[in-house]
Amino acid sequence: MSTTSIENIGVFTSGGDSPGMNAAIRSVVRTALYYNIQVTGIRRGYEGMINGDMFIMDRRSVANIVQRGGTILKTARSEQFRTIEGRKLAYQQLQKNKVDALVAIGGDGTFAAAKIFGQEFNIPIVGMPATIDNDLFGTDFTIGYDTAINTVINAVDRIRDTAESHDRLFIVEVMGRDGGLIALRTGIATGAEAILIPGTTTDIEAIYSRLERDRRHKASKIIIVAEGEEEGGAFKIGDQIKEKYPNYDTRVSILGHIQRGGSPSCMDRVLASRVGVAAVEGLLDGHRNEMFGLIHNTITSTDFSQTVKHNTVINPNFLKIVEILSL
Ligand code: F6P
Repeated sequence: MSTTSIENIGVFTSGGDSPGMNAAIRSVVRTALYYNIQVTGIRRGYEGMINGDMFIMDRRSVANIVQRGGTILKTARSEQFRTIEGRKLAYQQLQKNKVDALVAIGGDGTFAAAKIFGQEFNIPIVGMPATIDNDLFGTDFTIGYDTAINTVINAVDRIRDTAESHDRLFIVEVMGRDGGLIALRTGIATGAEAILIPGTTTDIEAIYSRLERDRRHKASKIIIVAEGEEEGGAFKIGDQIKEKYPNYDTRVSILGHIQRGGSPSCMDRVLASRVGVAAVEGLLDGHRNEMFGLIHNTITSTDFSQTVKHNTVINPNFLKIVEILSL
């Protein structure tokens, strides 16, 4: 490990929470302490930075959190940090608390802000990808995604039970305001009859004819819809189907924020732990303005400007798989 002038790393979580954020915090704190660097916890993301809501963390302050959902540092979205005045205040608070480097745990909004802040005030910042949406370029999986998709399949399996008993069609809405990666994988894993996701053209007529084709030989049918789908949310799709096929017994179920909570899966805990070690070591090695992630099971760093969700792509084979397997 090269020796830099870093003496006190500030760590914070920002944006929507995700299971595994606590494992990420623990990894950052313990790695920094391992290298004899002080760690300052910053509560409520950029908002807490502006308000000086910070405290020194020791190895016991992250005891027994690797298995807990949510984030012990809390999280927030800060309007004030979007302004230069807000960022100046944040910088002054960091100076006051002698924080000379940062690890940001969050999604692309977190990194976009980190990039601006790091450049404006010449403060070393690295990031760790944490969002249930898995919509960041520069990592195969984000911290929280695996837990969230397992929460979804557990819920949809239960819905399938009741759908099968009543010969019903269910439209199930999952999270994904701007992307459909939760819908894509859970659609395959639950044997959904169709999935609707943003960024792909939805051939609603093709879905209708599939439903008709299956009418006689399938008792239950499940359509998974990502919340950001351009056709509208699950209720709108449900209304369209009810209008076209009034004889179908159709129900809508919105899974909502249960997808963001819960104890992180083994995959998420290990991902958070590995990336946390890499992020701190990366900072000490002189990395700046980069997110650390895992690509093909190898630690990778990607410039913040590249991590934006718009660079992520939907694998069209996954959609085809749903079509083939829902026969
Ligand atoms: O964490 C990302 C996400 O789950 C999106 O898919 C969703 O639209 C959004 O958060 C909702 O977050 P909130 O209710 O906190 O605004």
